[in-house]
Amino acid sequence: MRLILIGPPGVGKGTQAALLQERLGLLPISSGDIFRAEIREQTPLGVMAKSYIDQGLLVPDDVTIGMMQGRLSRNDVREKGFILDGFPRTVAQAEALDGVLAHLGLGLSGVVAIEVDDEIVVSRLGGRRICPNGGEIYHILTNPPRVEGHCDVCGTPLMTRPDDNESTIRERLKVYHNSTRPVIDFYQAHDQLVRVDGSQEPEQVYEQIVTELPG
Ligand code: AP5
Ligand code: MG
Repeated sequence: MRLILIGPPGVGKGTQAALLQERLGLLPISSGDIFRAEIREQTPLGVMAKSYIDQGLLVPDDVTIGMMQGRLSRNDVREKGFILDGFPRTVAQAEALDGVLAHLGLGLSGVVAIEVDDEIVVSRLGGRRICPNGGEIYHILTNPPRVEGHCDVCGTPLMTRPDDNESTIRERLKVYHNSTRPVIDFYQAHDQLVRVDGSQEPEQVYEQIVTELPG
């Protein structure tokens, strides 16, 4: 299965991608996680991306498309199915992705738009903690780690993402409404879209995704 997850910051894209990986063996590919890995390694791409990410702005299309083209051309993408989390985020990225997949001879199984009110997003992201090592996602109230402040998988101290402060979250939401919602219309027009209610519990969101996808 080859899927795209689209939705506002904090709606649960990463959480659902992890469930789809664990239960269906799909390969999660998160553009945000790739940027954060580049930032950790202080590569030129990472240094450049950080200046946008810290402000809640999108990294320019040409850079993002080039990076994702490289990632999608690797063999594991062809061997397993995948879940794209956070890409495409502009109509130009969606059009570029169509070209990349056509070139690779791969089709999409579906596009899932997860939707939720902005205020829910702000409270979810305020309590999010992530593992800087494996990327595991927690929430201090709704999904706490077994040992406070440490990853269940590797024990690494958890961190708060630098872009999870309220003013940056509000900027990310604005960018989502202006630049990414048109991507939902793009896939709706191509009859590839499934809409899911992201305000439910993670298990219910997962059930809705797997039930409503074609095939
Ligand atoms: P990215 O890393 O993609 O961030 P985002 O889209 O803002 O989304 P998040 O990762 O914040 O949220 P999520 O939907 O994954 O939610 P999660 O599962 O963690 O991008 C970061 C930045 O990189 C962008 O701002 C941009 O600058 C740049 N970038 C990335 N891709 C780009 C692109 N294509 N083009 C240009 N720039 C790009 O869940 C959030 C919290 O809620 C967690 O604590 C979780 O435990 C909890 N939770 C999850 N689901 C539920 C639920 N159902 N109920 C209750 N709590 C829940
Ligand atoms: Mg995420």
